This record gives sequence, structure tokens and C-alpha cells, in this order.
Amino acid sequence: MLQYQPYLDQLANNTTESQALVNPHTKEEIARMPICKEEQMENAIKQADGAFETIKNMPAHERSDILNRASEILHDNKQMVAETIAQEAAKPIKYALSEVDRTVQTLKFSSIEARKLEGESIPMDAAPNGAGRDAYTLFEPIGVIGAITPFNFPLNLVVHKVGPAIASGNTVIVKPAEKTPLSAILLREALVQAGLPEDAYHVVPGEGKVLGDVLLKSDAVQKITFTGSPPVGREIKSNAGLKKVTLELGNNSALYVDKSMNDRLDDIVSKAVHGSYAYNGQVCISTQRIYVHEDIADTFTDQFIKGAEQLTFGDPLDEETDICNLIDKPSQQRLLEWIEDAKQQGAKVLTGGEAKDDGIAPTVLTNVPEGAKIMKEEAFGPVVIINRVASGDEALKAMNNSQYGLSAGLFSNDMKQAIDMAHGLEVGQVLVNDVPTLRFDHMPYGGRKQSGYGYEGVKYAIHEMVNRKMISLNYTF
Ligand code: SIN
Repeated sequence: MLQYQPYLDQLANNTTESQALVNPHTKEEIARMPICKEEQMENAIKQADGAFETIKNMPAHERSDILNRASEILHDNKQMVAETIAQEAAKPIKYALSEVDRTVQTLKFSSIEARKLEGESIPMDAAPNGAGRDAYTLFEPIGVIGAITPFNFPLNLVVHKVGPAIASGNTVIVKPAEKTPLSAILLREALVQAGLPEDAYHVVPGEGKVLGDVLLKSDAVQKITFTGSPPVGREIKSNAGLKKVTLELGNNSALYVDKSMNDRLDDIVSKAVHGSYAYNGQVCISTQRIYVHEDIADTFTDQFIKGAEQLTFGDPLDEETDICNLIDKPSQQRLLEWIEDAKQQGAKVLTGGEAKDDGIAPTVLTNVPEGAKIMKEEAFGPVVIINRVASGDEALKAMNNSQYGLSAGLFSNDMKQAIDMAHGLEVGQVLVNDVPTLRFDHMPYGGRKQSGYGYEGVKYAIHEMVNRKMISLNYTF
């Protein structure tokens, strides 16, 4: 049985301040979160640094077994962990359950990758004076990794940092989102029950800037891996000095639907509605800008609106709930302002566009000018913009007209068009015949432009958490 309370109690022994963690749907207190200060973060860094030699020297098969056992423990506690996510993040239980399933997978991928961290052999005699030597590379862990994680996937986006860190022999400190520290603590409990030394993974909740600065300033912390907003990402990068940095930032994901897909519209609309409104659109790769060929735009739009209006708004713990309150009131206010701003600039609201409890009714906009905030920025809410285009080329241009570049999707039966667009899209991942809101946890995941720096996806994250060492053996000497 996994529990977060004992770890919260342990943290509370060393802190004087705490804050209520409130379920955004019921407004009831779920737990009290101790607010850690600089000193607690410094202690955690010291302890993680002290545990580094142990993890570094632990054979790969042992680290792999710990990760695999942790995945089984999480799987055995799936319902309880999902309910924790649903309550702290206001995530509908069906999506919370799927997040736990994904986390189990991410741990399994980490377990597999822990056994396969392979270097290469270097043909030294390729250089005229290199003959007589054998050389190879190996990967060495770097030390303490500081992970700063967001509220929207409070378990799986934590494990995307913790799993690769442990797999590659590092220790890790998570500064979780202020509203959602409980899932990160449950992950720690699973890993510790699976045999991970306690000091190899700390969760230090508190104010982001205060604790983030301690991680940035510490010489013991070798890398910062961050998922969150572009302004914070930029600040981290400019203050990180020579530390390694990975940044997973936002996107305003675009999808193109070509007329050649006319006979598949039912399936495409169903995928697009899901990609747009899953977890209220609070997903970095949520489908936000949809470009539809003009020949099928009316049918697509009518069906899409119907799909949006059929979504059930309710309690995240209710299995029937599709959408619910946003994470907090300011998120709702921001979206209402952006919708109003678009309306002022000529946008038309086809459905939604208004508050629903502390959320937003699933919203479809059209005629939104390129300069409107809701088009340019990441909405991070249940708001979708449908645009008509005359061709795939026009769609490609519009899709690329973005400061972001994380993910894009397109549906087309025209192979040449699909390939041309896939090559032309300025993003880290293109999903042909899928929505952009799709991620499998082992694939490379990283953005261009303002969307980020570096890669996640277990194997790729590991390569950003190790140093390569080249060893040459001169056997002629
Ligand atoms: C994100 O929102 O940053 C990640 C999306 C995902 O993992 O599905």
C-alpha cells in the first residue's frame, strides 16, 4: 500500500510553514503540504550527493530490477494512485488511470534502458597516426539531477525525469508543482519499497523560484530538467551556467485534415475532439489549431461541435466525466480574457466560450486573426480554433506560423502530400494520420523554437544525463 502522509510528516518535522492542498472540484483539503525553504533543499542536495556513489556503483541489473519492481508496485496500487492524481490535479479519473498505466510503462522502459547503456568502439587507425590502439566509449552518470515538474501530469512527467536518472546511475531531486506534490511522493514510495536507497530520490515541495534558485546555484547539481512555461525555461537556461539543461516547454499544436480523408471524418473528428479536450486541454501537445480543407470544412466543423457539446462536465472522480474544473481560477480568468480578446478582433464562438463552474465549457472558435493571443500562445485549456484552408500548402504555412514547435498532426490519404508536409513542419514530432496530442513514452520528445531544448523519452533523456568517456588502449607501447 502506497502512502504519501508519512513522507509529508517527515518533511513537516523540518519546516514551519505549510499550505492546504485543495481538490479543485470539491474545494476540500486533501492534505497539508509543508513548504520547504532553502535550507531543506540544501539538505536534500547534500543527501542526494552523498547517495550518488552508491547509485553510481550499483550494477545496472540492480537498478533495472528496482525500476521494474517499482512499476509493479504502482500497477498494484493503480486505483489509489489515480484517485490521488484526480483529486490533486482535477484530472478526470479515466485520464488519471491512463496516466498511471503510462507511468508503469515509463518505469518499464527505464528498467530496460538501464541494461542497455551501450557505448561504441572507435577505429583509432582511421587517423594516420592512430594505429596500434583500441578505443571505446562508455557512459558515466553525472551526479545529482534537479527536476522541476508541472501539475498536468504529476506522475508521468515526474517519472520521465526520475526513471532515466536512476536508470543511468544518478540521484534526483524533484521540485514538484505547488498544487500537485502527492503523486511525486507516491512515486518515491514505490521506488523505495522496490529497493531504491532513500536518499537517491528526494521530493522537495515549496515555492518554485525559491527552491529552483537553490538547485541552480548548487555546484553539486549537475543538470536541471524542467517542464513548464517558456519564460521560466528561458530563465533557467540563462542561469544554469555549465550545468546540463533540458527544457520541455509549451506548444499551440496544429492539425491538418485533408479533403482526401472525406470518408474517414467520423473517426478523425472523434480523435480530434479527444486530442483537443482530454484533461481540459491542459496538455502541452493538446490540439489547439485545426486546419481543414475547405471542401470538407463545414461537415468537419458541424461534427466537431457536436462532439464537443456531448462531453460530460463533472467530478473528476466520476467515471463518466470528460471535462471538469481547470487547475485554478486564474487559469479560467486568463482563458476567458483571451476568448474575449479574440471576439473583439472578429472571432466567432461556435460553441462554449463561457465559464462553467471553475472550468470553461468546451469551446470552438473560428475567424480568429493570427495576432490574437488565443491563436499565438498556448491556450492550455479546452479551446480550439478551426480554420478553413484551400490546400495542404496553405495549411503547412499556417501551421508553421507559430513561435512553438513541439508536435503537429495531419490526416491525408495523399501520400506525397503527407510526406511533404511531414518534412516541412517545423516541429519535433509529426504524427501522420494521428492528432498531435499523442505520445508514447519511449519515443524522442523535444521541441524546436520556443518549445524547448533537449529531449525526453526514456532512452533520449538518459543520453542527456550522462557523460561520455573515451578510453584508448595503446597496445604497441
Ligand atoms: C506534456 O503535457 O508536457 C506532456 C504530454 C504527454 O506526456 O502526453
